[in-house]
Amino acid sequence: MAARARRMTDRIGVLHGPNLNTLGQREPEVYGATTLAEIDDLIAEAASDHGFEVVAFQSNVEGALVDWIQAEAASVEGWVVNAAGFTHSSVALRDALVASDRPFVEVHISNVFAREDFRHRSLLADAAVGVVTGFGPHSYVLGLQGLVGWLAGRS
Ligand code: DQA
Repeated sequence: MAARARRMTDRIGVLHGPNLNTLGQREPEVYGATTLAEIDDLIAEAASDHGFEVVAFQSNVEGALVDWIQAEAASVEGWVVNAAGFTHSSVALRDALVASDRPFVEVHISNVFAREDFRHRSLLADAAVGVVTGFGPHSYVLGLQGLVGWLAGRS
C-alpha cells in the first residue's frame, strides 16, 4: 500500500453491520442505551479532533455493505468496521475490505470473547490493523484513534 499525501479533507469510512440500526433498543443489557446516531456523532467528533471527517454507513444487507465499500474505497484513508454478525461469517465482506487496499480496524461494542464461542471467530481480524472489543460505544472512538495513529505512522 503506497503512502499518500495528507489532504485537508481526509476521510475515514465507518461501516456498521446488521442490527446495529436498532442500538438503543436492542439487548440494552449487552449493547447499552446509546443509539447508532449518537455513536456516529461520537466518531465524527473524535475524527474531527484529528482533522478527519467521517462517512458512515449501516446496512442489514451483506451485498449493500460490499457495494458501499467498493463505492467509497477511493475516497477514504481507512475504515472503522463493526461488521456485527457478519464478522463471524462473511467472506464477501473480508474480501471487499482487503480488495479496498485501505487499512481497517475491527470494533465491537460488547466483548465478543466473553460471549458465545461462535463470536470468538472473526473472518476479518487477521486482515485488520487491530481489534477493539468490549468498551461499549467507546470502542469506535478507540478504533478510530488507533487507525489515525497507524495512518500517521505510515506517512
Ligand atoms: C457486535 C458483536 C457481534 O457478535 C454481534 O453479532 C453484533 C454486535 C458488537 O458490536 O458487540 O451484532 O459486533
